[in-house]
Amino acid sequence: MASLSITAKTVSALEQTKTQALVILLPQRKTLHQDAKALDVQLGGTISRSIKLGDFSGKAGSQLWLPGSNNAQRVLLMGCGDPSAMTASSAKKIGEAAAKALVSCPAADAVIALHALAAKLTAADTLIEQLSLQLTLAHYQYSHTLNQRKKPARALKRVTLAAGGTCSLAKARAAVQVGAATGQGANLTRELVNLPGNICTPKYLASEARRLARTHKSLSTSVLDERKMAELGMHSLLSVGNGSEQPSQLIVMKYRGAAASNRPYCLVGKGITFDTGGISLKPGAKMDEMKFDMGGAGSVFGALHAAALMALPINIVGVIAAAENMPSGRATKPGDVFTSMSGKTIEILNTDAEGRLVLCDALTYVERFSPVEVVDIATLTGAIIVALGQEATGIFSNDDRLADSLLAAGERSHDRGWRFPIWEEYHKQLDSQFADLANIGTGGAGSITAACFLSQFAESYKWAHLDIAGTAFRGAPKGGTGRPVPLLVQYLRERAGVL
Ligand code: BES
Ligand code: MN
Ligand code: ZN
Repeated sequence: MASLSITAKTVSALEQTKTQALVILLPQRKTLHQDAKALDVQLGGTISRSIKLGDFSGKAGSQLWLPGSNNAQRVLLMGCGDPSAMTASSAKKIGEAAAKALVSCPAADAVIALHALAAKLTAADTLIEQLSLQLTLAHYQYSHTLNQRKKPARALKRVTLAAGGTCSLAKARAAVQVGAATGQGANLTRELVNLPGNICTPKYLASEARRLARTHKSLSTSVLDERKMAELGMHSLLSVGNGSEQPSQLIVMKYRGAAASNRPYCLVGKGITFDTGGISLKPGAKMDEMKFDMGGAGSVFGALHAAALMALPINIVGVIAAAENMPSGRATKPGDVFTSMSGKTIEILNTDAEGRLVLCDALTYVERFSPVEVVDIATLTGAIIVALGQEATGIFSNDDRLADSLLAAGERSHDRGWRFPIWEEYHKQLDSQFADLANIGTGGAGSITAACFLSQFAESYKWAHLDIAGTAFRGAPKGGTGRPVPLLVQYLRERAGVL
């Protein structure tokens, strides 16, 4: 993946800036800022005339391309609305619009200037972070299984961000690093999510984890095969792969950013590389989208990649429960009962409720790390899409402080979540006549009963579950979104005390 180079620099005179694309961020205002006046003169007054004519409004996300000069080949006016009311939401909107315009124009380099916002801008770091994140995201293109002829190359190679007095160069550099690292993490997630199920198998995820450990000195990977998992008693996880030719894998990635004596934060990802539903077979329509069912695992890769790029001063253990859910003569059948690593027996009433079956053993496994907190991430239920659509990730937790931190991280990164209850009353739905618990509820609140199931394996530590079935990928155009990597990175940064 060729990644975009983004740097923060001091740029004093906009009219003397040599670049193929100069982006001027402007507030919604009738008069032009001091710093942009010389540029306006150089361009024969086109900036002030566009504002006067109403061709450029200055609203957050509004934009207008102007032909440039000998110094800046083309100029993009980018509206920022009221910079004294800059939020994560408006910063994201501005970042998305600027990024889209730049990656689809022929320029190989660009300078983005914040000078005209200097007087009023409140959250310069938020804006610079979002610009860097959105540029990195917009630059990503899937190409793994496309031949050369179909690959439209990105012209844009380098972007310079000029804070122009909105914040110090050091602060701007730090914000660029956070935004770019988050974007690179999210792009890794998207790539894994986009890869087809015949390539991205559990073994492929294991090899990608080993590759990530080669990229970062601070990361190490180990993988448990089916024999080792059987020794540990992970028969719930193993039951999911029974029908598949692809062996299941438990992937453990350790990020060391602090002293070994510091207890780690654990991220646990659902890594179903393809979910047919198993014997409880899914209908055929859109079944291809079930290659995205390792989105939780993908986000663990993405968050760890970003954490390592940012050298966060904490320890993190990422655990991925990877399996393929297939029907076959050896597949698990409805009514089958398996014993999980915790000792609890599970009656599998629906083989399509497989995510919780792989996660429960991974949740028991992470007890050995004495984690400070455990967050699992999973494309767990279709019901969460009914409840929240594509906008918010479902958050479930046995700890209010952890839930609040994840909600706050979502707001701050504008990768938002919404909390649901996991009250005792819901747990009754999981009663089974033939085992300690059933793997599906008896009716209603499908996302909650799924979370209740998981919570019964996470009783010994602070735990949260993120249901990302609605947020990890889009249906049209199809593809991974990289969510909830921005939320996770924000949460980890906060826990590392670098905010
Ligand atoms: N991977 C699916 C959840 C899913 C559905 C993600 C649609 C994205 C889009 C999960 O394994 C599943 O099949 N869940 C079932 C649970 C049910 C059988 C209790 C569901 O949501 O229908
Ligand atoms: Mn399923
Ligand atoms: Zn699934």
